[in-house]
Amino acid sequence: MAEWVVPLSDLSFTPEEVEAVADTYRSGWLSQGPKVMAFEAAFAEHVGARHAVAVASGTAALQLICSGLGLGVGDEVVVPSLTFAASAAAVVHTGATPVFADIGAVQRPWLSVDEVEGVLSPRTRAILNVAYAGHPGESLALKELAHSRGLAFIEDAAHALGTREGGLHVGTIGVAGAFSFFANKNMALGEGGMLVTSDPELAVVARLARSHGLSTDTWARHAGAEVDYEVLQPGFNYRLDEARAALGALRLRRLGAGNDLRAAAAAVYTREL
Ligand SMILES: Cc1ncc(COP(=O)(O)O)c(C=O)c1O
Repeated sequence: MAEWVVPLSDLSFTPEEVEAVADTYRSGWLSQGPKVMAFEAAFAEHVGARHAVAVASGTAALQLICSGLGLGVGDEVVVPSLTFAASAAAVVHTGATPVFADIGAVQRPWLSVDEVEGVLSPRTRAILNVAYAGHPGESLALKELAHSRGLAFIEDAAHALGTREGGLHVGTIGVAGAFSFFANKNMALGEGGMLVTSDPELAVVARLARSHGLSTDTWARHAGAEVDYEVLQPGFNYRLDEARAALGALRLRRLGAGNDLRAAAAAVYTREL
């Protein structure tokens, strides 16, 4: 049998990146702290978002968006029929119902405005678009449709770090976007995600929910800035850790070069297959 030579993803890390991770372990502080805050600031600037909230996965980011927007039982959210399970699961976990709309065509594997219009109902609260394989698809037209119907436009930008459309980064076109740093994504940190939003209230709610609903974070207490905490609401442990944040801040700087390599590989596949 021939040896399998095409890996699912092909990662390499610079000595500077490895050193940044090692430095984090030497620092003695590993959980969400100053490196996460710095990564959030760099990420927000990179994509042009008002708020960036680092979380444990792209799925966590999607789930916090859906729950933060108040979606729940009786609500419907339009989701593309061609996507990874997490896009719909995030809706299901709020109690809302994902309603699948078809893609445009095999050559246009993204949510189609025409198909979405066909599944809207009085219970629809949001349209959740996926920038499939990093393609913006019909993002701008879907946002217009959402606005015209008074619906939230949510973006699953798990594959789309580096994609811009109409002068905006994908993920900042709608009310909120979710990015993934899973090991096969174009900015792989192993695990992790980022929620971006222009809505300050959603950012506050997401920050609370990602860390058990605590009024102060552990880093602030570690550094002596706070002495205590209140549990303000039931939350989750959806935090990103410092080592991944340190790596993310550096990998963000060479994202463009990595995306260029992917585009070159895609061109070869398209031509040869
Ligand atoms: C379209 C899409 N949305 C969401 C996710 C979930 O991201 P994560 O694995 O970081 O939870 C993935 C992939 O993993 C994805 O492909």
